[in-house]
Amino acid sequence: MSERFDIGLEQLTGVVALSAERVFRGATDSQRTFFLETFGCQMNDHDSEKVAGLLISRGYQQVKSPNAASLVLYNTCSIREKAAQKVFSRLGEFRTRQGEGQIIGVLGCVAQQEGEEIFERAPWVSLVCGSASYRKLPELLAQVEAGNRRVTGLNNDTTETFETEMTRRDDPWRAYLTIIEGCDKACSYCVVPFTRGPERSRASDSILQEVRQLAEFGYSEVQLLGQTVNSYADPLKKVRFSELLVNIAAVPGVRRVRFMTSHPRDFTKDIVDAIDATPELCEHVHLPVQSGSTKVLRAMLRTYSRDEYLERIALIRAARRPISITSDIIVGFPGETDADFEETLGLLREVEYDGVYAFKYSPRPNTASLAMGDTIPDEEKSRRLAALQELQREIQTVRNARLVGQEQELLVNGKSKRENQWLGQTSSHKVTNFTSPEKDLLGHYVKVRITSAGPNSLAGEQVG
Ligand code: SAH
Ligand code: SF4
Ligand code: F3S
Repeated sequence: MSERFDIGLEQLTGVVALSAERVFRGATDSQRTFFLETFGCQMNDHDSEKVAGLLISRGYQQVKSPNAASLVLYNTCSIREKAAQKVFSRLGEFRTRQGEGQIIGVLGCVAQQEGEEIFERAPWVSLVCGSASYRKLPELLAQVEAGNRRVTGLNNDTTETFETEMTRRDDPWRAYLTIIEGCDKACSYCVVPFTRGPERSRASDSILQEVRQLAEFGYSEVQLLGQTVNSYADPLKKVRFSELLVNIAAVPGVRRVRFMTSHPRDFTKDIVDAIDATPELCEHVHLPVQSGSTKVLRAMLRTYSRDEYLERIALIRAARRPISITSDIIVGFPGETDADFEETLGLLREVEYDGVYAFKYSPRPNTASLAMGDTIPDEEKSRRLAALQELQREIQTVRNARLVGQEQELLVNGKSKRENQWLGQTSSHKVTNFTSPEKDLLGHYVKVRITSAGPNSLAGEQVG
């Protein structure tokens, strides 16, 4: 017997959820099964939820081990070289099993980037499909099932967005929702414009319809996704991004709305005003800077200077609500001097981020910065990364300590093995451990008084 996922029916959402329920209940052991592993960003996580929903609606069942599956899919990430290598090590595990009747497919950003080359490196793969072609997945799968050995979906010159009739969601309280796909920026280090295709925004009516449906299914938190989420441009021309946020927040049953990733260039005051005026909009903005040096920002083609970035930060800091700010940084970009790096450290001190994701520069195929070489030795990149992380840890320790004594509202999303210990997240996206004698808190909103704080999490006790 193959291992079965215990798929809660409440986690299937979509217009055909009821018929899916029938499909699910009618399942037998002879049914087709799939295994799906996901790498990369939240957009990939959500694409996988949609792919899983699509497969389930076609009668497949999800299993936890690739060995037990008739269809094995890897949804891949290509943002840095290490991420891209992972899929080839996964695929290598199938080398000796060729011909055992399994269908192996590669989806996502490595699929789009490497294309048919994947068939050469791993001839046991029979499906290669990038995210801009997922609309065609049912068609492509039918071809694979018919015995076609090399099926591709690699056209990313599309205006379509990927919507499914059914989504198999991983989280029972927070629902992801992609509002804009692809990217029209051209940062010199980045593969995303090549792997995810041009920017396409989803119609606001269709987004609101899905949000209403999510609320009916009991999801109280909605996280809007996009590589440049605030570049959203409604094809119906009904709303601008900040208005869409407010309209989503007004849907009955929605208690929290998050959105990421914001691009500094398109970050405008109306977004801050919307957060200030709308309690459901979370107190958090992810606004990656990448570098604190205007010279490096120019070489990265980020389209803003250090000062212009700091102007956006000033807008956020001028809000009435205490909005958390997080960022991404690349260290060791070609030509980054010690002085440039010091400017990045200085920017961290100035902004006082609540969290930073820092990465060593990794040269990527097709990108403009490839021609600049990889001039900073790996040791030096590691030194800069460690220095930056140490500084950021100190900043977070100080910032979080200021919250001690305050009351925060949490969405409870975890329970510790220790008695009376729970886990939740603040509106500002901080993980908080807290004590409560109550028995059934998962998915509920509680008030907690913060009693202590570390650099990466808070601790507290329930007060309401
Ligand atoms: N759209 C988002 C970022 C998406 S990729 C934005 O514009 O901010 C997530 C992060 O990966 C980036 O913010 C960047 O910090 C990092 N990244 C992207 N390409 C990289 C590369 N070639 N090497 C190292 N880090 C990279
Ligand atoms: Fe990549 Fe830049 Fe687009 Fe972000 S904005 S996805 S870093 S090209
Ligand atoms: Fe990776 Fe593609 Fe996301 S490259 S970060 S999975 S958009």
